[in-house]
Amino acid sequence: MGPLATTILFCMLLDPALPLTQEHQDVPTTEWVPSLNMKFDRRTMELSWDCKENTTYLECVMIHKEKGEIRKKPKNKDCHCNFSHDSLHGGVTFVVKVNSTQGPIPEKLVYANPGGEGTAAQNFSCFIYNVNFMNCTWAKGRAAPDDVQYFLYIQDFKEKRERECPHYVTDSGTHVGCHLHDLSGLTFRNYFLVNGTSRETAVQFFDTILSLKKIGCLHQRPYSRGFRTSRING
Ligand SMILES: *[C@@H]1O[C@H](CO)[C@@H](O)[C@H](O)[C@H]1NC(C)=O
Ligand SMILES: *[C@@H]1O[C@H](CO)[C@@H](O)[C@H](O)[C@H]1NC(C)=O
Ligand SMILES: *[C@@H]1O[C@H](CO)[C@@H](O)[C@H](O)[C@H]1NC(C)=O
Ligand SMILES: *[C@@H]1O[C@H](CO)[C@@H](O)[C@H](O)[C@H]1NC(C)=O
Ligand SMILES: *[C@@H]1O[C@H](CO)[C@@H](O)[C@H](O)[C@H]1NC(C)=O
Ligand SMILES: *[C@@H]1O[C@H](CO)[C@@H](O)[C@H](O)[C@H]1NC(C)=O
Repeated sequence: MGPLATTILFCMLLDPALPLTQEHQDVPTTEWVPSLNMKFDRRTMELSWDCKENTTYLECVMIHKEKGEIRKKPKNKDCHCNFSHDSLHGGVTFVVKVNSTQGPIPEKLVYANPGGEGTAAQNFSCFIYNVNFMNCTWAKGRAAPDDVQYFLYIQDFKEKRERECPHYVTDSGTHVGCHLHDLSGLTFRNYFLVNGTSRETAVQFFDTILSLKKIGCLHQRPYSRGFRTSRING
């Protein structure tokens, strides 16, 4: 198999709409791995796909806008890879490399952040005070429609339980903050997601991972007074 055929095969997988041309008839059909039907579950950060018989999967790659390529090796016959939590609002691309006699064939999945640019909540930040309270605030996206409504979900890293903000702070009806008076169940690092709705347009989500440990408020220190605030920014 020459490099030309390999290249064409590669392109076809990335663009299934491409018509079959003469060259492809060289490719043995038994080697052909049709769409793996890749799926990504944000809550578990698990990338999975349909297992195909007699196929080995060499590598999973998450291509992250800021962090670059994060590689995982699926175990022998596993048809999934677990990634650790990362912000996804910049959009990420997943690649699974399938082995074949032609060498690794990549198949990809784009996990997008659909909606208008600038519609997502911005300037998200949280702070803990009086040990057990936490306030988070954000602002309406600069391009968000008037009727936008935002919702905050917090997911801990241990139980992976997702809970919605129990008490929103509103500005002219729009949720622009959240007050929590019970931080039990949260872990040192937690995943924060602000998504939104509007009748006019799709609203992009904002997500971030914030560490409660870093700000130290969960642990009373000898010098700490009752009221102390620290700010963590997304
Ligand atoms: C990967 O994630 C799935 C779904 O959360 C879980 O059932 C499985 O145990 C995880 N596997 C590993 C190796 O962590
Ligand atoms: C898979 O491989 C095994 C052993 O090499 C072979 O017996 C079987 O026929 C293959 N199955 C398919 C669907 O190619
Ligand atoms: C990929 O598949 C080829 C042919 O089936 C095999 O010779 C090679 O060892 C495989 N490579 C890996 C890394 O599994
Ligand atoms: C968001 O933060 C930026 C930089 O600190 C600031 O310039 C901007 O005015 C803030 N936007 C809103 C809506 O608060
Ligand atoms: C946190 O938010 C609540 C609810 O809006 C508010 O009553 C409280 O004053 C805020 N606390 C601080 C320290 O800003
Ligand atoms: C926002 O995210 C939550 C948690 O995953 C989900 O249940 C909800 O349907 C989402 N809402 C929108 C408008 O996407």
